[in-house]
Amino acid sequence: MTTFRNTWVDIDLDRLTSNIKILKKTSGKSIFGVIKANAYGHGDIEIARQLERLEVSYLCVSSLDEAVHLRNHDIKAPIMVLGYTETEHLSIAINREITCIIPSKEWLEEALAQNNMLDRLKLHIKIDSGMNRVGLKTISELKEVIHIARGHNLNIEGLYTHLSSSNIEDGAITKKQIEKFSQFKNSAEISFKWVHTSNSDAALSLGELDNISNAIRCGIAMYGYSTFEKGLDPILSMYCGINQVKKLAPGDQVSYSATYTAVSHETIAVLPIGYADGLDRKLQGYEFIVNGVACEVVGRVCMDLTMIRVPDYTTSKDIVEIIGKFGDAAKMAKYLQTISYEILTSISPRITRHYLLDGKVVKISNERFD
Ligand SMILES: Cc1ncc(COP(=O)(O)O)c(C=O)c1O
Repeated sequence: MTTFRNTWVDIDLDRLTSNIKILKKTSGKSIFGVIKANAYGHGDIEIARQLERLEVSYLCVSSLDEAVHLRNHDIKAPIMVLGYTETEHLSIAINREITCIIPSKEWLEEALAQNNMLDRLKLHIKIDSGMNRVGLKTISELKEVIHIARGHNLNIEGLYTHLSSSNIEDGAITKKQIEKFSQFKNSAEISFKWVHTSNSDAALSLGELDNISNAIRCGIAMYGYSTFEKGLDPILSMYCGINQVKKLAPGDQVSYSATYTAVSHETIAVLPIGYADGLDRKLQGYEFIVNGVACEVVGRVCMDLTMIRVPDYTTSKDIVEIIGKFGDAAKMAKYLQTISYEILTSISPRITRHYLLDGKVVKISNERFD
């Protein structure tokens, strides 16, 4: 496939494989790969295909839309919607073999009232163990849900919860949540095929503390990031070419609102990437790499373009590294006072994605051309 804009990301599928090996080895549990939000910006279809090859136990997404998108692209692996599914859409989940969650007793009652084929749907009960988002809040609610489910011969395949603070090293909140979740599990009086509590940071740090579950739901660590140093490798790098190289005289100003003024004779490069591609508008002052040299973003990031100050010898044939080994998404996130999740999920679909195996591009993907 040919695309015409010189801005792209490389996604190294071998690194995805080795990150998953680390997660498996460290946790000793089955992998549920979290590929919501377009696989954290990496492209859900190609990441799903690689995870299928790696035989992960589940692909997790946030909505029925995301799940159907995967099925429409011939993804056959088990898929689970981690978010809330409106009960009127459950027949779609049944027909497309998509697992849903029970977020509350009310939801289950409504679902049963609307759909007489619910026994064909795989369901995981979500426990709210302290995050106060989606999920059952009391043991009595869990008991009622299980009673109703038994009465209707439902396939309750799993029990799970989500941890709010697995990135915090002292682990006090996590410990409390796991203790609470254990009480729920012990009072359930049925057994589950899958019990899952840990996200990436928990999977890499809890060890024996999470001896209650048999699977981990990992997102960010598959893509190479974690609070904990475990030898993961970021799988995505972002690059662009240079549209124009320009000379500035002292006093020349750059971009909207003229927030940068050249103090001497300077050279800048105009790059084909902007905030509509997911590059944050607050990146003025951050550095990209050209020929191994750090080059400062000067002036405001525009919708489609960004300017950087470059050495005089820079030409329009040079390549700019925006995210890569000199500056990964965690470094950019730190500069922007956010998290690598936001940097990655912000990468817009209009950026072409190159997928690599053995160092070679095996697939080029861009939603507009696919
Ligand atoms: C319910 C649930 N489980 C698992 C994950 C994966 O988290 P992480 O990317 O930290 O591994 C998320 C991500 O937000 C989530 O919402």
